[in-house]
Amino acid sequence: MHPNFMCVIPLNEGVESISTGGESLPVPVIKQPGRIVIMGDTGCRLSDSHGLYQECNNDSLWPFAQVARSVKAANPDLIIYLGDYIYRESPCPYDDKGCAGSPYGDNQETWEADWLIPAKPVHAAAPLVLIRGNHETCSRAGDGWFRYLDARVQPDACEDSTDPWMVEFNSMQIAVMDVANLEDENDNSLAGLFAGQLTWLDDQLDKPSWISAHRTFWGYGADDDTGKLTTPTEILQAAVAEVGLPEETNLLIGAHIHLAEVLDFGKFRPGKADNAIRFIEIYASSGRGVAEKEFVCSKGWSTILDDGAYTMEVKLNGVTRSYKFKTGAQEADILHLDLKELSQEESL
Ligand SMILES: [Fe+2]
Repeated sequence: MHPNFMCVIPLNEGVESISTGGESLPVPVIKQPGRIVIMGDTGCRLSDSHGLYQECNNDSLWPFAQVARSVKAANPDLIIYLGDYIYRESPCPYDDKGCAGSPYGDNQETWEADWLIPAKPVHAAAPLVLIRGNHETCSRAGDGWFRYLDARVQPDACEDSTDPWMVEFNSMQIAVMDVANLEDENDNSLAGLFAGQLTWLDDQLDKPSWISAHRTFWGYGADDDTGKLTTPTEILQAAVAEVGLPEETNLLIGAHIHLAEVLDFGKFRPGKADNAIRFIEIYASSGRGVAEKEFVCSKGWSTILDDGAYTMEVKLNGVTRSYKFKTGAQEADILHLDLKELSQEESL
């Protein structure tokens, strides 16, 4: 099934370059990744059970090769792949030109077609955190998963579930969970297993952390036929209900549900706003300017004013807002403004 030759070599700390077959590979030395690509669910679907046969031979209808080149062009520091590498599970139907000649099943040819060849630019772009999806369970492409991509030494036989592990950076950690199977071979829930893993991670994680797993913990979808709401990850939610998330959890990342949402923060990206320059002018009720200041929000600003009524104008990225306030006996002596949103909070 997999006649090719594989080598697994753990890297010693201090390694500065890696090359194989004359091609260099990225060295995992970055201590604080700035640009991270997160991706998953990329194979070409050939599935009798879904009745779906994607046109694997058509670059625009199965564009993974192009996506992989775009990932490399983005010059990331780190890539997190959230699982589901292999989608070619059934033979291409006779006389279907879109997928004619495609391999299928858990074998070298399929792994080459769905991942190893088109994902080459991904492997060349940055160190990878590779996560197992439900397409890589032992009854699907599990043998190939352990052979080619699992981070540990290949086990003697495919394992239904594997232990969580972590990647350490200067000021964050990425925890990886294997949630390929949600039930054991007798259809019993693995919520208890995941609860134990979350407890273990809670013990281990000591920096702001991303918990990464193929299935989203709070994933919702729509039934393909009826459109009704589906809740495909109640077992993960049951695990969280039992023990909670690790205290250091900063972000949960997952894939599996093939719905896309695009969020655009325009020019004012959260986290960047603190570096934007605010310009503040304060006028007395007579119109006389009494104070002005240009500053970045992270530095803050305070000033002392005589008793009286004032108008303050705040400019941020071309937007100006005015606020009226009074100081003096029985008046508030501190005015709080949220300078990210230019909104006024309750005066204290
Ligand atoms: Fe999946």
